[in-house]
Amino acid sequence: MRIAVLKELAPGETRVAATPETIKKFIGLGAEVSVESGAGETASIADADYAAAGAGIGSRAETLKGANIILGIQGPDPKSLSGYAEGAWLAAGLNPFGERARVDAYAKLGLEALAMEFMPRITRAQSMDILSSQANLSGYKAVLMAASAYGRAFPMMMTAAGTVSAAKAFVMGVGVAGLQAIATARRLGAQVSATDVRSATKEQILSLGAKPIFVESVAGIEGEGSGGYATEMSDEYKAAQAELVSSHIAKQDIVITTALIPGRPAPRLISDAQLATMRAGSVIVDMAAESGGNVEGSAPGETKRIHGVTVIGAQNIAALMPADTSALFSRNLFNFLSAFWDKEAGRPVLDEEIGNAVRLTQGGKVVNERLLG
Ligand code: NAI
Repeated sequence: MRIAVLKELAPGETRVAATPETIKKFIGLGAEVSVESGAGETASIADADYAAAGAGIGSRAETLKGANIILGIQGPDPKSLSGYAEGAWLAAGLNPFGERARVDAYAKLGLEALAMEFMPRITRAQSMDILSSQANLSGYKAVLMAASAYGRAFPMMMTAAGTVSAAKAFVMGVGVAGLQAIATARRLGAQVSATDVRSATKEQILSLGAKPIFVESVAGIEGEGSGGYATEMSDEYKAAQAELVSSHIAKQDIVITTALIPGRPAPRLISDAQLATMRAGSVIVDMAAESGGNVEGSAPGETKRIHGVTVIGAQNIAALMPADTSALFSRNLFNFLSAFWDKEAGRPVLDEEIGNAVRLTQGGKVVNERLLG
């Protein structure tokens, strides 16, 4: 069983899909691991660190030679893949909806592509969930980005020269990233409020010491929602939400938006007209910018000034903390593969529930329901 760890080639990607820690553990299971030279450099892991953990180091072609499992953060360019064993697995964040053509190419290459972001939201898969591990740290960093772009302070400060008032921060979308954003903004001393369409988040918001702001006139999603995820809301709900946001947002200094709906464009939560009502100097971080944006006018990787408001379109925030995010991502991959490790076969054998959820391609075909349906 050979495991290959690729160097990420996507622009701005700094993370790596294995650390010396996970490599030692894979070797402990009986696997051989090879790492593409320089793969860990941007995450502060030297080739020598990988070698000391027992990995072979080589070129991309050498790394892939005979590989049974290829590990990545993002899906590699199909053209860069050759020499791996027949039916090799490719386990990474494959962005199946956004990179559909690549999924077809992986099928043609005979790879069994496993999309780690399709991990089901079930208790036993929590430790394998890359969306959670990366969103958690991204929610933290988004608040720091907002704080550093904000021309005022977060906490209330009483100084000899007078009092500085606390910033008002509003978190829209209280999933993994939103919860961490609330906690971080609170730690920095802001007055925090938050909203979501899932009623189960109300208690979570309260437990973090923030104020829930919810549409009460139209029913949202009771409890957690299917698979923990939100769905597209009715027009009636959207109108009620827009009205609620309009009255609240004009008083906010910092807004962090995180709302996502799997497989669909991100819901639009803040219009240009609503932006215009905010105080000049306010800051918005749109964490959904790469999925179409929660904020009108935001663009991934760009910081814009719209009606005096700084709108930061987040792009791969996880790549700004590559040492920590790589460590967690790598553990997610290890937890996934090791949970299914069949000692006799000397390789992982997936069960139906998780296998069918994450497997995109097999036997030369696209096989995942979410892509076919
Ligand atoms: P996400 O990244 O898909 O979406 C972020 C948040 O935006 C969600 O809370 C969603 O309800 C909210 N949202 C969507 N449309 C909205 C709208 N129009 N207005 C306001 N908010 C909107 O969600 P994430 O962070 O992946 O987590 C969702 C849930 O799944 C959480 O309850 C989390 O605890 C659960 N979860 C469970 C796991 C497991 O059991 N293995 C692993 C990861 C998450």
